[in-house]
Amino acid sequence: MSTYRFKEDFVWGVATSSYQIEGAAHEDGRGPSIWDAFCSVPGKVVNGENGDVACDHYHRLEQDLDLMAELGMQAYRFSIAWPRVQPDGRGAFNEKGLGFYERLVDGLLKRGIQPFATLYHWDLPLALQETQNGWENRDTAYRFADYARKIGSVLGDRVASIATHNEPWCTAWLGNATGYFAPGNADLKKAANVSHHLLLSHGLALQALRADGVKAPLGIVLNQSPAHGATDSPEDQAAASLEYSKFVSWYMDPLFKGEYPATALQWYGENGPQEVIREGDFDIIGTPMDFLGINYYTRIFASASGEKRPPGVLGFTDMDWEVYPQGLTELLSGLNANYKLPPIYITENGCAARDVLDNGRVRDTDRIEFYDLHLAALSDAAQKGVDVAGYFAWSLMDNFEWASGYDKRFGMVHVDYASQQRTPKDSAHWYRDVIAQHVGAALPR
Ligand code: FCB
Repeated sequence: MSTYRFKEDFVWGVATSSYQIEGAAHEDGRGPSIWDAFCSVPGKVVNGENGDVACDHYHRLEQDLDLMAELGMQAYRFSIAWPRVQPDGRGAFNEKGLGFYERLVDGLLKRGIQPFATLYHWDLPLALQETQNGWENRDTAYRFADYARKIGSVLGDRVASIATHNEPWCTAWLGNATGYFAPGNADLKKAANVSHHLLLSHGLALQALRADGVKAPLGIVLNQSPAHGATDSPEDQAAASLEYSKFVSWYMDPLFKGEYPATALQWYGENGPQEVIREGDFDIIGTPMDFLGINYYTRIFASASGEKRPPGVLGFTDMDWEVYPQGLTELLSGLNANYKLPPIYITENGCAARDVLDNGRVRDTDRIEFYDLHLAALSDAAQKGVDVAGYFAWSLMDNFEWASGYDKRFGMVHVDYASQQRTPKDSAHWYRDVIAQHVGAALPR
């Protein structure tokens, strides 16, 4: 087994999100979310699937907590479904929904697993979409801050960290520019305005949580990739710079430099967010964070001709994403050189594979190799001076992979959706051994 060099208190964990695993979509007072609505639109999700049942985690909480403990997890990153705790996204809170997350957090603590909470992993209360166009509307940022404040008051003394958003790029771009995700808009201007309001809501939430004295470390989770041109030609290199500016700098620059990046801003032109930016917004957005979460899956490959297929020397995952571990080292070193960063957690990293259950065993050697290569790349980044605080594998178990439905399996634990039987794959056993080998065993850096 490889040895990775991380600091002594490095956190080893695994991640999931509410809509992808919970199910119980219409129970105990949970309100509908934009993903419930989106899934019911024909053609949006593979096989017309949805998260109504998913992994039935809502009902199998204790069993899943035991499973995590058996697998030696030190930390668990989960998200809170806003419509489960505040069905309309404003006004009354739902005690039963809050109770579920209290049981989750207490159950983790009882087993010695650190709870890492995320407030928004894409399941916006549908009422906010229907009555005020969701994140297009500045008011939704204030509603989010109210919701954050409530979670802070209920869980803020018990969680190891609170992240505001998961991958705002996906909410803004996939949800509003391409329509590939909920709420399914295909309008560049909407996407730009949404991204600004998401960032604003992040800053407002941080300020509200701090004002209330919440002590848990606060941050945000961004999906990031380095961008490479297909060739060295100036045109391909410019295409790569533009993609990086739209994908990475669009979020990093407002958070850490108080402005949007010029390259992407110019590209947006009159479709940019200028009309919704108000005086003082960048001060709010730039509220200092205690950590930055980064989700890493692959690199961006760009060319002036539009051809985007990379060479894929190490192959492609079942999502058809290129396996490109060295991009993680490159990305983190680049960020470290360009921004004054707080400690970094890799909050997601993993791959989908065609896993087959064979006599109670899943031999997912490709996944083990994927994790090994990425942990080695992360270890390299730590050697190069990046303050890496922890790693969360995506995902604990197979789950509802958004527009791809249940077809794509990302879990370390196999889920048979007909029986809800959980079976740890070989990768889960491998990861348990990696954790055991590394915990408390910092090696000279
Ligand atoms: C990320 C999402 C996560 C999961 C993985 C595969 O973009 O945050 O929910 O779908 O991709």
